Formats: sequence, C-alpha cells, structure tokens
Amino acid sequence: AAPLRLGLAGLGTVGIGVVKIVQREAALIAARSGRPVTITAVSARDRTKNRDADLSGYAWETDPVALATRPDVDVFVEVMGGHEGPARAATEAAIAAGKDVVTANKALLAHHGQALALAAEAAGRTIRFEAAVAGGIPVIKALTEGLAGNRIRRVMGVMNGTCNYILTRMQAAGLPYETVFEEARQLGYLEADPNLDVGGIDAGHKLSLLAAIAFGTRVSFDAVELEGIGNVSIDDIRLADEMGYRIKLLGVAQLTGRGLEQRMTPCLVPAASPLGQLQGGTNMVVLEGDSVGQIVLRGPGAGEGPTASAVMADVIDLARGFRVPTFGLPAADLAAPVPARAATP
Ligand code: NDP
Ligand code: HSE
Repeated sequence: AAPLRLGLAGLGTVGIGVVKIVQREAALIAARSGRPVTITAVSARDRTKNRDADLSGYAWETDPVALATRPDVDVFVEVMGGHEGPARAATEAAIAAGKDVVTANKALLAHHGQALALAAEAAGRTIRFEAAVAGGIPVIKALTEGLAGNRIRRVMGVMNGTCNYILTRMQAAGLPYETVFEEARQLGYLEADPNLDVGGIDAGHKLSLLAAIAFGTRVSFDAVELEGIGNVSIDDIRLADEMGYRIKLLGVAQLTGRGLEQRMTPCLVPAASPLGQLQGGTNMVVLEGDSVGQIVLRGPGAGEGPTASAVMADVIDLARGFRVPTFGLPAADLAAPVPARAATP
C-alpha cells in the first residue's frame, strides 16, 4: 500500500520524539496501519543544530508553510508551538492544500480551534490533537471513541505537570513557591513563557479543548475561569496539610443549570484521594459519563516519549483511514457555549 507521508514542522522535544518512533518502529507501525508511515520533509529554525537523530533522509524546508503544502506530504505534523505566527499560518495552509493535520499545540486550538475545524471539514480533512491534552494520556480518544455512547457529565483533572511538580515539591520539602519555581526553571520544566504554566493558561487551554469534545460546544477558552498558582504560599500548603488536604491546580468542566462552567483554579483535594496523591509532573484526568460512571486516567503529561506516543497514535489513525471530526462532532454542529459565569450577578 502507498505510504502515509508526513511533513514534520518542529524538531524540538516532541518532534525528535516523533522521528525516533517513526524510525525505530517502522515495521510495527506499517503492520498496525496496513501501510508504511514515512517522513518526507522536516522544518525547524536552525538547520545547523545537533538534534540527536538521523535526519539525513528527509528534505529540509526553512519555511513551515512550504513544508505544509508540499505535494509529497499527506499529513502535516505541527510540533512547533505558538498560537499565532508560523504554527497558525502553516496549519491553515496545510488544510487549504488538502492535508490532514496532527498537532500537539493546545494554544493554537484553544484560540483558533473552531475556525480551523470548520476549514478542515470544508476541505474534507481533520485535525487530530491527542498530544495537546495531558501528553501521553489518551484522553481525547477516551472521549471521542471509548465514551462515545455516553453523555459526559463532568471532566476534571490536573493537566499541567509543571504546576503539579511545584505544588507537590512545596508540600513535600516545605519550600516556598519562589524557591521551587527556580528549581523548576533549572530543571527545564517551565515553558519559555512560565506564565503559561504557573498562570494556569496552558492547563486552561487543555480544559477548553476537553470541554468542547465532552459537551459538544465550540472551544471557548475565553470563558475559562483562570487562576494560577503564583499566589499559593507555603502557609496555604501547610494549613491544607494540617486539615488533611493537598492544593492542586484543578480543572473542572461541567454543564450546570446556568450553562457551561469551566474552571482552572487551585483547589483543596483530600490528601488520601487519587488527585491528592498525584506526584511530580504527572497528570490525572477524571471523566464522568452517564452510563459508564467515573473513569480515572493517570500518566505522563509531557516529555519526549509520552508526547510523541500521542502524536503517533493520531498518525496511525490517519494511516488506517480512521477519521473522526476534530472535536468529535461536525464543527458546524457544535453549540455556542453559554458560559456559566455570564449568569452570575
Ligand atoms: P521545543 O521548543 O522543544 O521545539 C520547538 C521546535 O519548533 C524547534 O525545533 C524549533 O526550531 C521549531 N520552531 C519554533 N519556531 C519555529 C519557526 N518560527 N519556524 C520553524 N520552526 C520553528 O517545543 P516542544 O517540542 O516542547 O513543543 C512543541 C509543541 O508541543 C508545543 O505546541 C507544545 O506546547 C506541545 N507540547 C509539548 C509537550 C512537551 O512535553 N514538550 C507536551 C505536550 C504538548 P529550532 O529547534 O531550530 O529552534
Ligand atoms: N508545560 C506543560 C506541562 C507541558 O507542564 O504540563 C505539557 O503540555
């Protein structure tokens, strides 16, 4: 069978992880997909950088838009990041050129998901983004496939590993926020703009994507009630500890009588509960469906292997010819969400 040909934009943590899996697992992927999966061309900013992978067989494109529109690319894999600039331009160009898209970019979809999904569907294409939410945890597939027979009641969880690392380390070592923040920076855990992590924005992006799928609504990141962890003090953590609680940056999305509630805020959770026990950079997502009850998914929310694992799951779906609409329903059928806070006096 004809190979599925990838154009890979971004050769950082996630992109190199994708290269490694495509190369190491070529036979397994071909067997599972019914056809080979190959990389045709790659793109990054600096061609001279040593990248710990053999890229010699791939064409190089300096411009991600040129990569995304190459006739010998079937699927555009966007792992550059950023919700404007080249990530957005190249994704739009890929769709206009009739390519499917696989992305790890939660910021792009949180800001432009509805427009991109509409454009993709108009072109008979789809955008897959398993890696964008909770890294290696297959939570998008759980919602769109495994729980497709359920009405989802609630989506909840810890979706930013960096914040979870900072909060658990503060609690375990009795260290103040500023010290642990600096540790996280040294360890390379923080995004280039740390406010994306500690301001709750990255986790809010992820929650807004899950809420869209879960409740059949258009992505509405602007309606997420956001509060980061910058104001959580060691005294707050000690007090919570004394009462048998942990502080977690917890996301909750649910339909209430007043509309769709989306919150990403520091919350008290019982110390002995699965959420309270969640350590380090791990993520946990709790899904509640009317028929299935409660499902708890826990695992690595970031890193080369886990995130590339999720990208490859989407790639293999496309190689198999399996396409679900971007947000689980045709984009035109997604409802305009009524933010719950709009009804709050
Ligand atoms: P990195 O910063 O490690 O890599 C980004 C890559 O994109 C680099 O190769 C960089 O080029 C390239 N790039 C950036 N800007 C441009 C541009 N203007 N033109 C061409 N290439 C460009 O990022 P990550 O791999 O960590 O993340 C990629 C995406 O995956 C982001 O959207 C992120 O949010 C998402 N993600 C990341 C996770 C993780 O664990 N790292 C987890 C889940 C999602 P160069 O190398 O030359 O600088
Ligand atoms: N900065 C993110 C986190 C990376 O810490 O969870 C994964 O999306």
